[in-house]
Amino acid sequence: MIIGSNIIFRENLPSTNSYIGQLLRDENLPEGTIVCTNYQSAGRGQMGNNWESEDGKNLLISILTLPSMIKPVNQFIISMAMSLGICDFLNRHIRGYSIKWPNDIYVNSDKIAGILIENSIMGDNIEYSITGIGLNINQDKFLSDAPNPVSLKLLTGNYFDLTISLDQLASDLDLRYKQVISEKFDLIRNEYISKLYRRNKWSNFRDQEGIFTGRILSVTEIGKLHVEKKSGLQAEYSFKEIEFIP
Ligand code: BTN
Repeated sequence: MIIGSNIIFRENLPSTNSYIGQLLRDENLPEGTIVCTNYQSAGRGQMGNNWESEDGKNLLISILTLPSMIKPVNQFIISMAMSLGICDFLNRHIRGYSIKWPNDIYVNSDKIAGILIENSIMGDNIEYSITGIGLNINQDKFLSDAPNPVSLKLLTGNYFDLTISLDQLASDLDLRYKQVISEKFDLIRNEYISKLYRRNKWSNFRDQEGIFTGRILSVTEIGKLHVEKKSGLQAEYSFKEIEFIP
């Protein structure tokens, strides 16, 4: 086991991603180290957003990996593998999950997990990668203005033991990370594409030209979203260049 070989638990932290980064400055952590907490006072989401999580209700973790086999240009592979690991965990309990590009995990049209990946690039190599995951498990009420949060408890009515869930998630992420190590890049990308939210479904998006109807076809090797517009035109988008309209 790589992911989960070393687990550091703290009762509360500002942010597990920031904390693992601080630890790395002072010591050599083994690859696969997971930092886990019950509560974050400054949990960070994508695009400078906060990550809401009630004390002791959900999984809040950051994972250190050293993916020396990946060139920075291909760093999206890490994102795809981690997204799939979370899907594998969800598959133990529910159906209807999908990956909203680039790496939100949805169940039907609600968000159950978010991923914040922070890579340290040195020249042409990834020195280390920190994958932060917030996975909603037992929270019943969400107070922030996040549009559509959901948890396993809300979906199933059941309470989940967080220690067991962490073990399962670590093992699912570990299997996916081993696919990265053995360079099964096509397998990872194809499976990721097959699980994309709104793939092949005509729906509304917004790009710099305005709102349009389109359908997601695929994701390129460097992680751009490949979309066909109703007009027949095709386009590839980087993160923030396209918005999903509900
Ligand atoms: C998103 O905006 O969807 C990404 C959310 C990522 C949240 C997790 S919780 C654990 C880790 N520590 C953080 O501060 N953020 C990530």
